Amino acid sequence: MKRVVVDPKWRFELDEELFEAARDGVEMHLNHPGIPPLTWERWIDRPNWALIPDANDPDLPYYKAEFAVTQFVPDDPELSQIIGKVNLWKKDDKRVAGRSAPHTHPGPFRAHVMKGGYTESRFWLEDSTVLIPRDKTVVADRYQLDGVLHVAEAIHQTGETNELPSDILHEVVEIHEPDRTLTVMVGHQGWDAPWGELDPDTQIWTRSTVAANPNFGAMFLDRNPHWAAK
Ligand SMILES: [Fe+2]
Repeated sequence: MKRVVVDPKWRFELDEELFEAARDGVEMHLNHPGIPPLTWERWIDRPNWALIPDANDPDLPYYKAEFAVTQFVPDDPELSQIIGKVNLWKKDDKRVAGRSAPHTHPGPFRAHVMKGGYTESRFWLEDSTVLIPRDKTVVADRYQLDGVLHVAEAIHQTGETNELPSDILHEVVEIHEPDRTLTVMVGHQGWDAPWGELDPDTQIWTRSTVAANPNFGAMFLDRNPHWAAK
């Protein structure tokens, strides 16, 4: 099996089996005339990847590696609406050390599990359809969310689709096969809410840029110097 060290410093490796899962996922779930089939050459090209650090665990090289399938295409407004990524998971996505911290996304999405699996906690408020306003330019840094908060655990296995609508916050709490769990994420532009985290005890939602570990930005650029120019 073909195997390549894509980034020796951060011990990031890819192989043919992961590639085939990603290629099949792109073909199935990002089937659009403007999105070319995934090739091995693009798959192992480092600038197409972002290694996402865990701000609570600086010694971990990354908890998730993200491959950008789609790019913003200024002359194709329809294609620019589609956000497509392949995510390769090393570790869970708990954003605050020592307690649960479910997060909101900039928009709704579907994650198609092509390999491995993960366990997720899903949080929602009774009778709520939109947790916070959708335009990040008008969203405050903190919101007190009223109402009864519910939580449920969901297990997502190979072949399944996880749909995350606008009224659900989530937290990925366990990766079933670290480094071998691969998802194809498909979202659509259209609204642009800020990332944010909820403290389930106080029900206060805080914008991620305010709550974030101040080291996150530097850790990200350390791992992804090619992003500095973007
Ligand atoms: Fe998420």
